[in-house]
Amino acid sequence: MYDPKPFGLNELREMFLSFFETKGHLRLPSFSLIPQNDASLLLINSGMAPMKPFFTGEQEPPRHRVTTCQKCIRTGDIENIGKTARHGTYFEMLGNFSFGDYFKKEAIHWAWEFLTSKEWVGLDPERLYPSVFAGNETTPADDEAFRIWNEEIGIPAERIFKFGKEDNFWEHGSGPCGPCSEIYYDRGEQWGCGKPGCTVGCDCDRYIEVWNVVFSQFDNDGENHYTELKQKNIDTGMGLERLACVCQGVPSLFDVDTVMNITRKVTEITGASYGQSHATDVSLRVITDHIRSATFMICDGVLPSNEGRGYVLRRLLRRAARHGKLLGVNDPFLYTVCDTVIHENEGHYPELRERQDYITKVIRVEEENFAKTIDSGLKIFGDMLAEHKAKGETTFSGADAFKLYDTYGFPIDLTLEMVEEQGMKLDEAEFHKQMDEQRQRARKAREALGDLGWAGVEFGKDVPETEFVGYENTAIDDAKVVALVVENEQAEEIMPGVEAIVVLDKTPFYAEMGGQVADHGTISADGVTFQVTDVQKNKGGKYMHTGKLTQGVLKVGDTVSASIDVKRRKAVMRAHSATHLLDKALRTVLGDHVHQAGSLVEEDRLRFDFTHFSALTAEELAKVSAMVNEAVLEGYDIHTDVLPIEEAKKKGAIALFGEKYGDTVRVVDMGSGYSVEFCGGTHLDNTAKVGVFHISSEFSVASGVRRIEATTGKASLDVMNRNQEMLFQAAAALKAKPGELREKAEQTMLEVKALHQMVEKFKAKESAGEADRFLFGARQVGELKVLTATIPEADANKLRQMGDMLRDKAPNVVAVLATVNGEKITFLAVCGKEAVAKGIKAGEIIKNVTAICGGKGGGKPDSAMGGGTNVLKLDDALASIDDFVAGKLN
Ligand code: ALA
Repeated sequence: MYDPKPFGLNELREMFLSFFETKGHLRLPSFSLIPQNDASLLLINSGMAPMKPFFTGEQEPPRHRVTTCQKCIRTGDIENIGKTARHGTYFEMLGNFSFGDYFKKEAIHWAWEFLTSKEWVGLDPERLYPSVFAGNETTPADDEAFRIWNEEIGIPAERIFKFGKEDNFWEHGSGPCGPCSEIYYDRGEQWGCGKPGCTVGCDCDRYIEVWNVVFSQFDNDGENHYTELKQKNIDTGMGLERLACVCQGVPSLFDVDTVMNITRKVTEITGASYGQSHATDVSLRVITDHIRSATFMICDGVLPSNEGRGYVLRRLLRRAARHGKLLGVNDPFLYTVCDTVIHENEGHYPELRERQDYITKVIRVEEENFAKTIDSGLKIFGDMLAEHKAKGETTFSGADAFKLYDTYGFPIDLTLEMVEEQGMKLDEAEFHKQMDEQRQRARKAREALGDLGWAGVEFGKDVPETEFVGYENTAIDDAKVVALVVENEQAEEIMPGVEAIVVLDKTPFYAEMGGQVADHGTISADGVTFQVTDVQKNKGGKYMHTGKLTQGVLKVGDTVSASIDVKRRKAVMRAHSATHLLDKALRTVLGDHVHQAGSLVEEDRLRFDFTHFSALTAEELAKVSAMVNEAVLEGYDIHTDVLPIEEAKKKGAIALFGEKYGDTVRVVDMGSGYSVEFCGGTHLDNTAKVGVFHISSEFSVASGVRRIEATTGKASLDVMNRNQEMLFQAAAALKAKPGELREKAEQTMLEVKALHQMVEKFKAKESAGEADRFLFGARQVGELKVLTATIPEADANKLRQMGDMLRDKAPNVVAVLATVNGEKITFLAVCGKEAVAKGIKAGEIIKNVTAICGGKGGGKPDSAMGGGTNVLKLDDALASIDDFVAGKLN
């Protein structure tokens, strides 16, 4: 009797990975959702995607059998999310992989064993149906897989289905692909559509595909040209949520244990209940699915934006926020749901908890930003809709959709969804046209702002592109002046003293690019000198040397020498090569989520921005710095190569994501593979020449982006010299040897503290003595002792201390103390217990004396303070006290 055991999702994941460990597989953690060196993908969408180089043989895998549970995101079906049982943007894919190791036989046997053995999942074999590739014009039918299922596993031929390329040939964009064999599970008639002919392959929810075993043997170049791979591989994928759905016997992947816990949390916040209506369920599922995706994406370093991956994230969060509104939630709330996502998944993905604060913050900020415009956007949408309907239109205008995007931050698929809910269509083509126009306007605006003022200069066809010869040369003497520009106008010649732009046919000057500053230097001929202070490359590939003609006359057509400031260039190269070493060290110490987010490379100074969640600890900084300096000391050779892009990727070169690269790229390799990056900059020939690498600061520049500022070569030496000098000065000041400075400083601080305490003690003693003296000089009025005194160089505090002391010493005292600071008098009056008992009130005394001295004050019977400004009346005021007290006593 087979009855699927209701294994939990987390339990199934562990079962799968340990099953394949028993078959000699190496368990690897999930790769990041952000593809590394794969510009063909925005987000990882399958278990095999991060391992493409292992399939093609470009890279040696850590073992030839690997098993993973990979985080995946697919947004192709985004509009179906929540409406069906099987669609989710986020899911986990279980996979076992062979890189040129085992092939069809083992893969099929193990899949069957895992699913049907009672020791493992224990599904009823009678409910499982395999399918194999039926063949087409280019690839023959997979008879071998058929035979294995039929003869070795023992599945009757009529239970093995044969499907075409659509179903049984797996490929996703470019890369490794091949025919596949799938395993379907029959969930029983009650899930079926009931239509005649409903069988394996039907779209309904009865037969669901759980496992896909791909016999990965071709490489698709992205344009459907297939080449046979050198090695035969196995790439399998089983949706973890689907497997859990089958085992738990629940209707959809949203009903699986860990996922349902998230939905439950959403119902708690929204007050909606699951199963109440179709519309409510759709909203609950959209929120549940999207918050799962968003949490994992942010954890891996994606931030909401209007481009690429960032836009996928923004769309998910905004769509979820709108479904929150449909459920009646008006305040940001998604950020509180992510806690449950983290709770359900942290066992396998501990990084979620580590980055919890960061993830929560990113979601909250995005929700708050959208909250500012969503209400007005929804209202405008309502108005637009009413207008369309009034005109009897069934297509919603693309221009209106663009307005919603541009002004109210409504991602296009959000508008699309709302339009479709109204049974209308959306003019998407018009929307995209307006998007393009906006991009062009923005580009023009940037160009018009061109800070050098030359952006507008149009050169004729006779002005060629400048050839850059600066990788090999620092000076050439056969350059030709091909154009001159003065104040945005082209000129034939320029006179001494004039600021201008010189364009040469070839140049050793590096134009500012990729964060590296431009070279400085001179362009000269006999009696002619032009000082170059900036170089920019314009769109037409011309190098614009900006500077001033200091002597002679320069004409178009002149042959000139061009030589750069070599010392400066060397310093820039030190900083640039160190930047690559820093990138490498950050990835090693902090992890693969680190991506360059900008850089500036100057003379012996660099600034490197990168994605990371929190401030680096002192320990991390020390590790990074040590790793860079070790690479410097290794003295790695640095080679640059211009390679076809594919070959560069094979070397594992790190590309900046989203950058467009040509067919060939320049690759900078340090230490034969230690650090390999795409880079057009100028570099040292050996890492040792960096000299000393020194980190001067590390701080945050934007949410999720940190910056490191550092120095190399001479600038580091300058820092060290300055530090050294400060050390000597500090040591001299403390009369210590530099090596004993710390000890001496600590000892000095202890001494200072002891002296301080001693001084306080003396002061207290002195005050006590003073108090005694005052009391000795006090006048007897009845049974009370009245004393008045002016205390030099005191403040309110000192007066209070003294007053407290007098009161403690003599319960029958009435004392008025004053101190003068410039024009200002401060008074304190205190009355001892006995004096108070006799009806003398300090507050009243203060009122009187301050009135005499042109001021005011007050307080309690035993103690009061006040101020006055008429110093000449001070004596009168103090002299009045005796009579006042005497008067009170009578
Ligand atoms: N790569 C295959 C898939 O994603 C296993 O279905």
